[in-house]
Amino acid sequence: MIKHTLKALVCALPLFAGLASAADPISIKFAHVVAEHTPKGQGALLFKKLAEERLPGQVKVEVYPNSSLFGDGKEMEALLLGDVQLLAPSLAKFEHYSKPIQIFDLPFLFNDINALDRFQQSPEGQGLLKSMESKGITGLGYWHNGMKQLSANKALHEPKDARGLKFRVQASAVLDEQFKALRAAPRKMSFAEVYQGLQTGVVNGTENTWSNYESQKVNEVQKYFTESDHGAIDYMVITNTKFWDGLPENVRTTLDEVMAEVTVEVNKQAEALNQASKKKIIESGTSEVITLTPEQREQWREAMRPVWKKFEKDIGVDLIKAAEQSNQSS
Ligand code: LMR
Repeated sequence: MIKHTLKALVCALPLFAGLASAADPISIKFAHVVAEHTPKGQGALLFKKLAEERLPGQVKVEVYPNSSLFGDGKEMEALLLGDVQLLAPSLAKFEHYSKPIQIFDLPFLFNDINALDRFQQSPEGQGLLKSMESKGITGLGYWHNGMKQLSANKALHEPKDARGLKFRVQASAVLDEQFKALRAAPRKMSFAEVYQGLQTGVVNGTENTWSNYESQKVNEVQKYFTESDHGAIDYMVITNTKFWDGLPENVRTTLDEVMAEVTVEVNKQAEALNQASKKKIIESGTSEVITLTPEQREQWREAMRPVWKKFEKDIGVDLIKAAEQSNQSS
């Protein structure tokens, strides 16, 4: 009798375990590499807030900023393995998964963030969100950070000033070529290593947005910033295709809506956050901000533009034309 009861209990255990896990909220880990008071950092927190408010008890979102769960280099693999469910890597970090996404790194392609936004919202831009689905990655939207500025321990007014300097770049062949075109020495380095790399002189300069410079305290280790606006750092929010498609329909629909709302909010706030960071850097008095004359900016454009030819085939000439058209109403 006792034996039978025990047996019945043991058999029922997995059933109870199943019931318990069915009631558990779905766990969504969102990892990123930047600080919380940046456009991406704020966006991730807003996503958590709205998702948990709208799906109480059904989802639990954990946000890991500052490379605290996965940093550059490891995060995509982790997404494919199911160790993390949401990432928002910079558009410079997709070249192993989609060559056309390299378009976003072409120097001096977009006149400003509004032109970039128009391209992202165009059929071509939206198509790129789906360009990695065969590899198991789905793009959920584009988040802005902002236009890139150059920094160095030397004043950069003209392209020749960058000659021979070592620049940290993201893991992007286009950005590597961009600095080679200046006869500088690019070095790929993860975001988490930037401050130390600059401090120790492993690199002498870099390119990034005001919010990334300020939140990483890069101004403590760089004397000069050149307001070049020569490209942008923006993000694609991505998920594991199987994970997202496997969510209960009501959960997926609500999360899609939340993501759309957060995207609008991030993209509205990003420029103001960057300008506030620029102001903080200026007020800190650590560094000089160099404004280029139109002639000087043209020199940088001419020096960097040859890079386009090298990537035209991989990216696609028609895609580049569509992106150039987005400048028209700037
Ligand atoms: C970088 O590596 O400089 C950026 O991609 C970091 C980020 O996510 O903004």
